[in-house]
Amino acid sequence: MLEKIKNLLSQISSFNVSSADDLESFRLRFLSKKGMISVLFDDFRNVPAQEKKEIGMKLNELKQAAMDAYNRMKDQLQQSDDVKTENDLTRPANPFPSGSRHPISIVRKEIIDIFSRIGFTVSEGPEIEDDNHVFTKLNFAPEHPARDMQDTFYISRISPEDSNPGDILLRTHTSSVQVRVMENQKPPIRTISPGRVFRNEAISARAHCIFHQIEGLYIDENVSYADLRQTLLFFARELFGKETRIRLRPSYFPFTEPSAEMDVSCRICGGKGCNVCKYTGWLELLGCGMVHPNVLEACNIDSNKYTGFAFGMGIERAAMLKYQVNDLRLYFENDLRFLDQFKASF
Ligand code: DAH
Repeated sequence: MLEKIKNLLSQISSFNVSSADDLESFRLRFLSKKGMISVLFDDFRNVPAQEKKEIGMKLNELKQAAMDAYNRMKDQLQQSDDVKTENDLTRPANPFPSGSRHPISIVRKEIIDIFSRIGFTVSEGPEIEDDNHVFTKLNFAPEHPARDMQDTFYISRISPEDSNPGDILLRTHTSSVQVRVMENQKPPIRTISPGRVFRNEAISARAHCIFHQIEGLYIDENVSYADLRQTLLFFARELFGKETRIRLRPSYFPFTEPSAEMDVSCRICGGKGCNVCKYTGWLELLGCGMVHPNVLEACNIDSNKYTGFAFGMGIERAAMLKYQVNDLRLYFENDLRFLDQFKASF
């Protein structure tokens, strides 16, 4: 009996499987009800009582060894199956989850591209600014409400009551970059300045405390309001389509005179009136005007020799008009279900 057990043990340890059929024949041969180990267990009844203890132990060890070998070979087969399927070049490719540009980046790039084509460079300025560049040099009166704590995030204020050109704050518009460019460059100047701006606003569908703007500035001799109008018409048609019309409504900004707000004809109804344009046929896009002589002088540019125009627009606003996304918060939440929709755009 001991001899038989030894013999089976060596058969088990030298058994090799390379397929599921081999594994099954192992099982039938050793582990099934009629297999060799079961036969030995049947024979065990005839073993003399004094040998039962030793032989019983050996038999149990044999059974355990056969089961271990079976499980080990089964795992091996499984693994080599996995390897085979991994390397199967005929299987359909896994689609990679590809990323996409954020809609704000798409529109910012598009706007920059349009102005680059007509000779505008790109300039940037700091997000943490001083009052001088954000307000004072842009002709804001000392008591102008935009300087108020309710609108502006101050980092440090020299006097808690009064605004001061040295106060440090988060810029509330990219017009501050105009000032920095004019301080550092001589005309002719033709530049646009994209960037983040910050205002102390409660977050809602229509307002956010962080958003993006693009500022435009053109200074040279004999720059006229007609140049401003023509530049903006070109821009609007490039961004929204050849049929687009614009209109300039008189407005007020401290840093431009005259000032205007520009509307574009509604793309949805073509100007006939619909619920997107609230039945006016027009959608407001940006602020603009002729640079105020006080601003030129504050930046050491001779306002008798040079004139210029400026404009500023919200990138979220332009993206809303382009994609009809009417809730600003969507641009900041980074919900993939929203962002995935812009894949095809670039
Ligand atoms: N800075 C203005 C704002 O944030 C936008 C603006 C209006 C910029 C007129 C300009 C301009 O350069 O000429 O609302």
